[in-house]
Amino acid sequence: MKNGYMVLDPIETISGDLHNHFADDVRRGLSAESKSLPSKYIYDDAGSNLFCSIMDLPEYYLTDCETEILRNKAGYISNAIGNGGLNLVELGAGDGKKTKIILDGLLKKYDDVTYVPIDISEGAIHLLLAKLESEYPLLKVKGLVTDYFAGLCWLSDLDLSRNVVLFLGSNIGNFTPEEQTMFLKSLHASMNTGDYLLTGFDMVKDIDILERAYNDTEGITARFNMNILERINRELDGNFDTGLFSYKSYWHHGEGAIKSYLVSRISQEVHIGALPMTCTFEAGEAVHTESSYKFTEKQILSLAESTGFTVENVLYDSRWYFADCLWTA
Ligand SMILES: C[S@@+](CC[C@H](N)C(=O)[O-])C[C@H]1O[C@@H](n2cnc3c(N)ncnc32)[C@H](O)[C@@H]1O
Repeated sequence: MKNGYMVLDPIETISGDLHNHFADDVRRGLSAESKSLPSKYIYDDAGSNLFCSIMDLPEYYLTDCETEILRNKAGYISNAIGNGGLNLVELGAGDGKKTKIILDGLLKKYDDVTYVPIDISEGAIHLLLAKLESEYPLLKVKGLVTDYFAGLCWLSDLDLSRNVVLFLGSNIGNFTPEEQTMFLKSLHASMNTGDYLLTGFDMVKDIDILERAYNDTEGITARFNMNILERINRELDGNFDTGLFSYKSYWHHGEGAIKSYLVSRISQEVHIGALPMTCTFEAGEAVHTESSYKFTEKQILSLAESTGFTVENVLYDSRWYFADCLWTA
């Protein structure tokens, strides 16, 4: 064990004690006066698969917008990054589909690229590594199954390497503004001077467009959020009946975020055997499952400044719905 993670051969996957953290966080979240469950736990194998389906939904514009930016700017990004060998470190890599656009750009220019996808979802990392092995047989890849923060510990141990960190898909928007600042400061401290960070930000826009993206007509986003209750049933011996909860997601003007909830349809008790705990829900009581903060350019620039990064460029799609920001540490 090193800094809370373990290096495993042969694919050098890093794994912390994620199962115990899950149990502790569920206990804490469901004991609070306003109940909540951290969104990162939605992403087990089933959740990661559902997220892949969300990315294909017509309402979920984020993926198309970011794909457009990366397709148009992959050449610019690889030129901006400069010469020499580098580690491409991706936080919350998911299926890595968009990353391949950046990888293709980098591999045209540099021989010595090591790609390090980091994700809390073990299934997502294994699937991604398998795909990369067949599509990029010569690429050096090291997958890390871990939380972002243990990933940052790993990054800070790479003393003299040149790193390009990717944080795509507006993952940053799942943090509260205070968490965004804290996270980016820790990330800055883990990076070497001159390292690059490319972060995706979903921009504030028409409320209907935003709300439709999180309330698709097929109900896949609802199933994605319900997966956290199903995961508690599977891994912590819970007896949630997901039919007794409904999904609700709306724009919260005061916070500048889409907030998602699972709302108890009736007054009920749920038992979670592995904790053990019995949790009481009033009819209409909500469990917060995810926040998706949206940004203005002013907020993005001030976030870079307050966390020590220098803004190199803000790259937009043609509708200005989404921005990928290139910063240096
Ligand atoms: C919204 S998806 C985006 C995936 C990918 N970056 C993209 O743009 O398509 C978030 C990804 O981050 C991972 N993730 C969420 N919270 C995490 C955390 N705290 N630590 C590590 N990975 C996390 C999830 O498993 C998921 O693959």
